[in-house]
This record gives sequence, structure tokens and C-alpha cells, in this order.
Amino acid sequence: MNNILEIKDITVKYGKSIAVKNVSIDIPEGNIVTLVGANGAGKSTILNSLMGIVPVADGTISFMGEDITGLATKDIVRKGLVLVPEGRHLFPYLSVYKNLQLGATQRTDRQGIAEDLEFVCSLFPKLRDRSKQKAGTLSGGEQQMVAIARGIMANPKLLCLDEPSLGLAPIVIEEVGRKIKELNEKRGTSILLIEQNVHLAFGIADYCYTLQVGSLTAKGCVDEMKQNDAVKKAYFGG
Ligand SMILES: Nc1ncnc2c1ncn2[C@@H]1O[C@H](COP(=O)(O)OP(=O)(O)O)[C@@H](O)[C@H]1O
Ligand SMILES: [Mg+2]
Repeated sequence: MNNILEIKDITVKYGKSIAVKNVSIDIPEGNIVTLVGANGAGKSTILNSLMGIVPVADGTISFMGEDITGLATKDIVRKGLVLVPEGRHLFPYLSVYKNLQLGATQRTDRQGIAEDLEFVCSLFPKLRDRSKQKAGTLSGGEQQMVAIARGIMANPKLLCLDEPSLGLAPIVIEEVGRKIKELNEKRGTSILLIEQNVHLAFGIADYCYTLQVGSLTAKGCVDEMKQNDAVKKAYFGG
């Protein structure tokens, strides 16, 4: 199987402090890979470096066989690497529909955009009913759905999700998990899921990496990782 994304030995610094050290991650095409780790471990930093938002001090990132290290964010998005950021970052005073449209700003294929709008409304039926409502007036769960839908509107081959469960009730987290899985199954979209909620992550992912203070500590397929004693201790309370 081909890897859609290969991160090789990246190091990311903020000034003199090292936030991410020698991290390598492979994402096989069509798979869901999760990266779990505590607050401050460096998860968002890794995603932001993939997207060209923060520069890497060392190492390389290749996407679909092409070295994308150092490219501008808009060019990375155009290639099909898309981020749903931590904290959603919707435009609260714009309608749901307008927020979705903004996901497609790097695209020119009108037909494809119209099809994707139809697809996200079938994946999240509520969005169709709420299309004229201001995004900031939706519940947290609904806002997360809009954020994911906006990501889909950018036509991702790999969709990166930064802690989609943050601040949501358990029942809503389950729903978000099901929708991510459905996107993966229906469209074959590869997923990189960043989470602190290991129950969500292990429930839907194929592979898992664990990150602690900027370094990877374990990796493997999810079924193996569930049996890993260190992982059990760190993330499942024994
Ligand atoms: N813009 C920044 N400037 C300086 N330090 C940062 C910045 N962003 C994150 N950090 C630091 O880098 C480390 C990793 O942060 P982050 O990637 O946000 O972790 P996570 O997403 O796993 O919670 C933390 O120590 C954090 O304080
Ligand atoms: Mg983060």
C-alpha cells in the first residue's frame, strides 16, 4: 500500500525551545491514523508544520510522493492536504452556508464544489436545515460538524482533524467519530486524527502513534496498541 503522507524525522522549534523532535509518521492511503498525546505534547505543532503554518527546523514532509516541506499553506491545501483546526475557527457571524463556501476558496471546479456541498449535506443532514443560521449560534457539536464539512469542501485527499472532540459531550463525540468513519468509508479520504480522547481515536483508527513531550513513544496498529501495557497505563488508567 502506498503512503499518502510521509513525515520523516521532523524537528520543530519555537525560538530556541524544541516542541517536536525527530518525529516520523506514515499514513497509508485510505487509512485513518491517529496521533494521541497529552496537552502540550506537540500534536498541533506537527499538524501546523504539515500545513506550512510553522516551519520545520529539520526533516521532510512528502505528500503523494512529492516533497512539500516549506510550501505555502494555500498550495498545500490545493494539493489536497486539508486541516480542520483545533477550536474549529468558524466565522461566527457568517451563515453555515457561507462558512462551507469558504472551504472551497482554493477551487475552481464548480461542478465538483456543487457535488461536495450535496455530499456534506447528506453526511450532516442538520446543516441543510441550518444553512442560513449564523455559525456562532450553533451548538458545539453542530459547529464541529460545520468545521469538518468546511474541510471536506476543500476536496481533501488527506483530512487532518485537530482534537474534534474538544469540549463536546460524550454522545456528541460518538456521533463525530461515526461521521469521520463514514467520510473515510464513503469517499476513501485518508484521515489524520489528533486526539486526547483515546476512546474516540481507538474506536475508529487503523494505526496509532503516541506522542510525549515532543517525541514519539509508541506506534502500531490499533488492535496491537490496545494491548500495549505502556499505552494502557498512560491512556486507559491501567
Ligand atoms: N506559537 C508558539 N510559540 C511558542 N511556543 C509554542 C507555540 N505553540 C505551541 N508552543 C509550545 O509548544 C509545545 C507544544 O504545543 P502544541 O503543539 O500546541 O501541543 P498540543 O497540541 O499537543 O497540546 C507546548 O510546550 C507549547 O507551549
Ligand atoms: Mg493542540
